[in-house]
This record gives sequence, structure tokens and C-alpha cells, in this order.
Amino acid sequence: MSGAAPATRDLPPDQLSREQAAAELAWLAAEIARHDRLYYQHDAPEIDDSVYDALRRRNAELERRFPDLIRPDSPSHRVGAPPVEAFGKVTHAVPMLSLDNAMEDGEVVEFVARIRRFLGLGGDTPLTFVAEPKIDGLSCALRYEHGLLMRGATRGDGTVGEDVTANVRTVRDIPQRLVGDPPPLLEVRGEVYIERAEFAAFNAERELAGEPTFMNPRNLAAGSLRQLDSSITARRPLRFFAYAWGEADPPIEGSHHGFLDRLRALGLPVNPLVELVQGTDALLAYHRRLGELRPNLPYDIDGVVYKVDSIDLQRRLGFVGRAPRWAVAHKFPAQQAETVVERITVQVGRTGAMTPVAELRPVTVGGVTVSRATLHNQDYIEQKDIREGDTVIIQRAGDVIPQVVGVVIAKRPPDARPFRFPEVCPECGSAAVRPPGEAIRRCTGGLVCPAQLAERLRHAVSRGAFDIEGLGRKQVPQLLAAGLIHGLADLFRLPRDPERLARLAELDGWGARKVQNLVAAIEARREIPLDRLIYALGIRFTGEVNARLLARHYRDYGTWRAAMERLAAGDPEAAAELDAIDGVGGALIEALREFFAEPHNRTALDALAEELHIRSVEAPSAAAAALAGKTIVFTGTLQRMTRAEAKARAEALGAKVAGSVSRRTDLVVAGADAGSKLRTAQELGVTVIDEERWLELARSA
Ligand code: IVH
Repeated sequence: MSGAAPATRDLPPDQLSREQAAAELAWLAAEIARHDRLYYQHDAPEIDDSVYDALRRRNAELERRFPDLIRPDSPSHRVGAPPVEAFGKVTHAVPMLSLDNAMEDGEVVEFVARIRRFLGLGGDTPLTFVAEPKIDGLSCALRYEHGLLMRGATRGDGTVGEDVTANVRTVRDIPQRLVGDPPPLLEVRGEVYIERAEFAAFNAERELAGEPTFMNPRNLAAGSLRQLDSSITARRPLRFFAYAWGEADPPIEGSHHGFLDRLRALGLPVNPLVELVQGTDALLAYHRRLGELRPNLPYDIDGVVYKVDSIDLQRRLGFVGRAPRWAVAHKFPAQQAETVVERITVQVGRTGAMTPVAELRPVTVGGVTVSRATLHNQDYIEQKDIREGDTVIIQRAGDVIPQVVGVVIAKRPPDARPFRFPEVCPECGSAAVRPPGEAIRRCTGGLVCPAQLAERLRHAVSRGAFDIEGLGRKQVPQLLAAGLIHGLADLFRLPRDPERLARLAELDGWGARKVQNLVAAIEARREIPLDRLIYALGIRFTGEVNARLLARHYRDYGTWRAAMERLAAGDPEAAAELDAIDGVGGALIEALREFFAEPHNRTALDALAEELHIRSVEAPSAAAAALAGKTIVFTGTLQRMTRAEAKARAEALGAKVAGSVSRRTDLVVAGADAGSKLRTAQELGVTVIDEERWLELARSA
């Protein structure tokens, strides 16, 4: 609800104070938006169109009186031409009936057999049908008098519909005037629909504008045709296929397919997939073929319709109840279905990303039983306001993961509460955080979360990290699955645990020799430089470069560990220190803070550190500091190092190596027989040193 209606709502606009008007406009904006949602998104309006229009008119009146109170979210920004009060009623001279459905092939066989029985036709008397796609839109009757479009009406309850003449005039497929040789009176019936691509584009635009979206093309078509303001209808991409008739003078005679040809000749759109078909097998083959075409058609179809072709036979067959005996709708499995969200659970991916999932009361969609649907992320749930206990429309198209299209608000249980996204990881109990500007909430328990363990371990033992030979993509999950390791510290305890080693030797692809090799590989990596250790932890944004920046700055493990502890505790100086490191940015600082704020991670890291000898980073010498950031050129022949080695060494010291000498060169290292580069350096006054001096510098650094 949008709160209680204000007491002022029946007062004329000029009797309201500014404050009262502002309050009522705020209420109107919320209330009208709510009805828009109910109508567009849920196809479940609570109020009559005339009541809705009265709300909009009241909004417009108040805005006219107080133009400076027009709100940014005012519903008036979205109106076109002034709307009509309400649709007029149209009584259909020939009722608009519906079709019986056949779900299974057997029901089609029975449909044909029943017709043959009714007409007393023997097995070999031919019986011709017209097979047509069943367009998933809404039916509409167009009355042409002497070729001029006089009236358009919706089906309504089949007997009385609504006069939507102004709206159908805006549909580009519907001719205002028939061509060729139109009869004195012809009421053409058919389906108003919207193409899937147009629907998707329309919804995408509304989403951008922050407006509610439609569930499917049919709802959009229905909502568009039933607009009181035809200028809105005009902006909607409505289309039309003709397939039947109502009142007609002279009466329609001959065959249904002949009638469709006639419609085409009069300039009306008839579906191109319509076919003449004989025999039950051919009907079923048509159904199969259209089922295959269905995903690639530009519009939605929900089945095919078989109609007896002869109009004489149609008259003889007549109606049962509200459906003709001469036609049947052979449906496809629905691609959308209604069901209940029993629970919303959260799955943790291998990178810690948390994905909410709707656990559904099982329902058949597109011929497959569906019991879960992804809810993507927190925003998705909030935008659609999906709650546990809600009835929802779910959709499945082809192999696509089932989606929740929207909530049927009218069926919401009174006690349903908005979903609260968990702030701790359901797998490991660690804090789950969502950085500002990101859609995904993540578990921060990188070192302990079972959902992330395989991925984390794989990374930790990889090349740039611990680089443990014999432990690869395949072995890590294998060891985890066998319960032989539970974490990184555990891996380093493995060599001391004969019982676990014996079990490992039994695993597929292992054996005593391989186990021995693994033990040796683990022992060889107990000693690790600080930068590699930091990299191995797999904290977000700590690639090899950032890990090295951190290690160079803090030098030894203890200093780094203490600084991170202070960072996590919210010490602004700890953050400032990081911020001052050249190359370290906000995202990395935040990732470090999150990682160390999680007690599980701290415990796991301390346990790991106990197993290791963590090598400190040496302080760079004065010489190395002097080389950092400088541009060096090597020239001539070096006796004690190759050029490649010299270059690598210089770069390791933070220098850039250039190929030619310029004013920007800081240092030239001249080997034997140096030529023009040396001369240029001397001319430009660039510092030149010989190989001996270079070696001294390189060694001391
Ligand atoms: S013939 C008396 N043909 O399906 C029979 N209907 O379930 C009149 N529909 O209300 C209907 N495509 O809105 C017919 N090719 C088609 C159709 C079609 C879609 C819709 C129509 C009708 C409903 C019946």
C-alpha cells in the first residue's frame, strides 16, 4: 500500500494549502505507481480503469494549481494525449468463442474421430483441415463496412467486449480501408500481438527508466490495446494476424482456406505458416514441425489450431458449449508457469560469489519439471520484490536456466516479508560483503569456506604461488574429496602424517613413489618469499604485482601481518600507510581489510605461517634505490654478462632499459668497442659507466 489516502482528496484543488497539496501529490505518485505495477507487471489490477483515471486527473489538477510542486516522479511525465473516461461496450453480434484444447496426440486422434462419427464419414472419405499457428496474443474483432474500418472491439467475456476503435487505428498491420473488392459488411477476427524482439527492447527501455516491466509479450499487447490514451497505444509495436470472421454480409461460404486467401486479397495480414492438411498423421506432423520452428519465430505461439476447412461442414458440426466442434487448439508445453517460491536459498560459488536461488514447488514448464530458478543477485530480488511464499511466473525457453519473470501480487500471503539477503556465508559462517557499486555479495572466508576451498587451494599451489609440483587441477579436488586435506596449513602438515600419506598412496593415480615425490615437493616449498605467500592467499586484487608491492613495503611477514590486523580493526593509519604505497589503490585496501576482518581467515593464515619459513624482502641498497625508475642504455660488448641478463638485472632493480640514447637517458653502460651511442651520450652529457662499475652496482643492489 502507499499509505492511507489523504483527507484532502475530495477538496477542490484551490482549497488546499501548499503543504496539503504536496502531501497529496506524494501519495498520488506512489499510489498511481503501485497501480501501474499491478496492471502492467502482474496483470492483476485492483481498481477499475475509471478509478485509476480519476487518480491521474486529480494529479494533473493539483499540478496545474501548484506547478512548482510537480515531482520528479510525477505520473504526469508519462502521459500522452488526454485519456478517455472509459471504453464503451460492444455487444458481439456473433459471440467470440474459445477453442477446446488438446494436450496429447491422442486427443487430436479423438478430435478427428469424433468429427467423422458426427458427420457419419467413412474411414476413406477425405477430410481436409486448415492448420494454423495459435498466436499468443489477444483476440480482437474489426468491423469493416464497405471496406472502411468502423470499429475495433476486444473479446471481453465473449458476449460483450470493449470498444477500442481509437487504439486499433494505431496498429500498423490493420488497414483503415480494405483494398480490392470489399463486401458491404465484414467483421474480421484475429489476434493482436507483439513480436518478441520488440517486447525485449521495450522492456529494456523501461528498465533503464526505472519503470516496471511486463511479464511477456502477451501482457504487453493486452496492456497496450487497452490503453485509454490512444497516443500511448500508438507508441507500442502492436501487430495483427487475421484468422476468423464474425458478422458478415454476404455470409462467408466455401472453405476456410478460401476465406483466408480473400482476407489477404483485401489487404489483411494472414499468417504465412497456414497450411491445408489431410489426415491425422499430417496434423501431428504439422504440430511437430511448428514446435521446432517455435523458438525461431519472431512472435510467441502457444500451439497450433486445426480447423475443418469446409464451411458447410463447420455449420453442420456447430458448437458444444462455448467452443466449436470443428476446431481444436493443439497446445505446446507452456514455457511459462505459475508456482510458489517455497524458500529462497543462497549458493556460494567457487570464488565466493553468493547467488540466491528460488526453491520452487515443482511445476512443468516447456515439458520439463522445474523446482529451482536462479534469482541472480540481491538487486534482482529487490527489484522484483520476490518473497518466500510468493506465487511467481517462471519461464523456461529452450535450454535456458529457468527464470522468475515476476510475482503475482494478488496471491501474496499476508505474512510474506521482503527477503533479507544473508550477511554471513551459509557455507562457512564468514562475513559476506558487498562492495559499493557491485551487484554480487561475496563470502570473505577465502581460506576456510568449503565452497571456495578447491579453487583457493588450486591457486595456492600454482606456479607463481607455492608452486608445488605434482599437485595440479586434477589432484587438488581429488585430495579434498578424499578428505585428506582441509586447507592450506593442512597440506604442509601432510608430510608428518604417515596415516594420511598411506591413504593417499591408495588413491587412483598415486602410489608410494608419487607420494614420496609430493612430500619432497611440499618440503621444498616450506621456505617461501613473502610476496609469493601473499599472492598464494588469493585475496581479491592481489595478483603477483600487488603482492610484490606489499612485500617490498612491509619487508617481513610479522610487520605485514600486524599492519593488516590494524587495518582490519579500522586503524586509519594502517589504511593511510597502504594508500601511500605507489601503485596500491582503494580496491586492494578494501579487499585486504575484508580478508583480515574475517577471524576465520586470520586463524587459518596463522596456522599456515607456523608451517612455513617466510623469507623477508631485503632492503634495497642505496645503489638499487638510485637505479629505480632510471632509463639505462647498454652499448658495446659486455664481457661478464649477456645483454639479456644485464637487461633483466636492470629491470629487476626498477630501471627501464632503452635501445638508443637521448636527453631522457639517465645512464649509459659502455662495454668494449662502444661506438656511436657512447659518442651521443658524451655529447648530451649523460653519465657513462663501464662494465666493472655496472657489476658493482648490480651486485650491491
Ligand atoms: S480460431 C471459434 N485461430 O486462441 C474459434 N484462434 O483459445 C475462434 N487464437 O480466443 C478462434 N491464434 O484469441 C483461432 N489461428 C487462430 C488463433 C486463435 C490464436 C486465440 C484466440 C482465441 C483463443 C482460443
